[in-house]
Amino acid sequence: ARVTYIEHDGREHVVEVKPGLSVMEGAVRNNVPGIDADCGGACACATCHVYVDEAWREKAGKASAMEESMLDFAEAVEPNSRLSCQIRVSDALDGLIVRLPANQH
Ligand code: FES
Repeated sequence: ARVTYIEHDGREHVVEVKPGLSVMEGAVRNNVPGIDADCGGACACATCHVYVDEAWREKAGKASAMEESMLDFAEAVEPNSRLSCQIRVSDALDGLIVRLPANQH
């Protein structure tokens, strides 16, 4: 599935991410800067914070209770904030757009 990552300065990275990988893994494997993912995807660091494009919020789903509590550690959290390691890429998310925060805490 095609995922577009938009850096805070507006730079766009359009990459093909295999269904089953997380949005975080898609960034890390394709050298998209701006997602630190210190915990490696265990929902335990909040350094994979992204903003899901409004058009994709519903399809990307809601944060779990665990993710919500981890998001408290991220900066500049918005209603469309998610931890990208908790969004599983699938064909239904082909075309997904996420924006990256100015920095991961
Ligand atoms: Fe650590 Fe997502 S990679 S919470």
